[in-house]
Amino acid sequence: MRRPLVIGAQKLFLPLPDAVGFASQLLSTLSGPLSLDVVLCPSFVNLAHVAEILRASGSVVSLGAQNVHFSRGDYTGQVSSVELKALGVEYVLLGHSELRSEGETNGMVNHKIRACLADELIPIVCVGDNQNQRESGLSKATISRDLDDGLYGLNTADISSIVIAYEPVWAIRAGGENTSAATPEVANEMHDFIRSRIASHFSMTIASSIRIVYGGSVDGVTAPYLLRQPSIDGLLVGTASRSIREFLPVVEAAQEVALVDSSAVGP
Ligand code: PGA
Repeated sequence: MRRPLVIGAQKLFLPLPDAVGFASQLLSTLSGPLSLDVVLCPSFVNLAHVAEILRASGSVVSLGAQNVHFSRGDYTGQVSSVELKALGVEYVLLGHSELRSEGETNGMVNHKIRACLADELIPIVCVGDNQNQRESGLSKATISRDLDDGLYGLNTADISSIVIAYEPVWAIRAGGENTSAATPEVANEMHDFIRSRIASHFSMTIASSIRIVYGGSVDGVTAPYLLRQPSIDGLLVGTASRSIREFLPVVEAAQEVALVDSSAVGP
């Protein structure tokens, strides 16, 4: 069974005191063993401070970064996978549409995946169609290209260590605007499609074990419906990870679904 995963990608929403407050509150609410993985991705400047809080708590919540550079050394203004690893980062978001819109290519995503894997960080590779592609019937072609080029040359061990995020660009809230999440059925169909591409490139076993999470206007209302879909293994939460009040219902929904699923599994 695939372990559910909820990722809070806090973008540049929270200044340091708020980011620290959020992490502390989250930990005080989530005591005890969870049946899912929860990952918090603060901004780079908040990362070290949030890392300390998470470490002190015994790591109920994992630390994620929002990006990484594919190399180290003479790259002014960038952040390397070695630096992230040293801070206790476990997951790294890659290929987010907000970075793709600033010029990040699938080739760069591929280099970054390799950098993460070399330092034993778990890449969360974002793929997704935009409004034009959707209206032109090009959603699946776009995602195929992102997967084919982004995952190019990876071996079965590599692919087993990554998470895919289906993030339809047309559903991303982008700063609180009034956007709707994909319907659970549409999201699930795209997750199935992604799984089928992974199966054709690697194997059925890998396709059925890889975690694919959905992102785009997720909140406490949509979360339970999305999570009940068989191919949706978790959620990537942007805007609703700005406040505990909005984020907690998403985590609780995932915990509930995880408990129901585990009780449904036979001995
Ligand atoms: P949203 O962002 O939850 O605000 O739509 C999701 C994302 O950008 O990954």
